Amino acid sequence: MNVVIAGGHGKIALLLAARLAGRRDGVTALIRNPDHADDVRETGARPVVRDLERASVDEVAEVLAGADAAVFAAGAGPGSGVARKDTVDRGASVLLADAAERAGVGRFVQISAMGAGLPPRPGTDEVWAAYVRAKGEAEDDLRARDLDWLVLRPGRLTDDPGTGRVTLAEPEVGRGDVTRDDVAAVIVALLDAPAVRRRTLDLVNGPVPVAEAVAALG
Ligand SMILES: NC(=O)c1ccc[n+]([C@@H]2O[C@H](COP(=O)([O-])OP(=O)(O)OC[C@H]3O[C@@H](n4cnc5c(N)ncnc54)[C@H](OP(=O)(O)O)[C@@H]3O)[C@@H](O)[C@H]2O)c1
Repeated sequence: MNVVIAGGHGKIALLLAARLAGRRDGVTALIRNPDHADDVRETGARPVVRDLERASVDEVAEVLAGADAAVFAAGAGPGSGVARKDTVDRGASVLLADAAERAGVGRFVQISAMGAGLPPRPGTDEVWAAYVRAKGEAEDDLRARDLDWLVLRPGRLTDDPGTGRVTLAEPEVGRGDVTRDDVAAVIVALLDAPAVRRRTLDLVNGPVPVAEAVAALG
């Protein structure tokens, strides 16, 4: 399988790249900072510099040409403000999906977030509200496309070692944590399960082995 990961220097992205490259899948990682290239190469992936707030659809599509799947793992991150929630968490996902369509890549896994698109409670911090809105709009954009999309909504991410056990199901599964390593393991299993498509899935750590959790989705 050939997989393109957007936001390729992100924490989940690096774990995902290492898992895929470790079993000899081809992995291309889109990064915006050339200084991150060596970290990406260490996973076994091929780094390609594309700033997803500046690149054109064609510039991203040319990287996607011939790939089997695209994974959106980018995010503006905790230090960012309202504007970059829109340009990255929404806009970069839309750009990647446009490019996937142009390149004829049908499989698209979007890392979203639990609660995406829910209306903000009164008094919600404006940056958090913008993040939840951007993630919701990115999901809506993807659902309207003729792609084999999957929206994966992790709970709160941790850097703890993977457990190999999760709860993975249509929303809502309830709040909880999930390790980034387990998110990466679930994405690999989903990429191996083409029949699981056009679904929105909450993900937290739980009792079910990853392979069983994905198999149970049918
Ligand atoms: N934190 C949580 O608890 C939580 C919960 C649920 C879902 N999520 C979502 O899960 C996803 C992955 O999380 P993570 O912790 O692995 O993310 P992360 O480590 O913050 O990585 C995000 C990556 O996106 C890249 N990026 C930002 N702007 C970009 C641009 N213009 N062009 C290309 N790449 C760009 C960043 O590059 P730079 O290194 O150059 O900045 C970074 O490498 C994110 O979408 C996040 O919102 C997070």
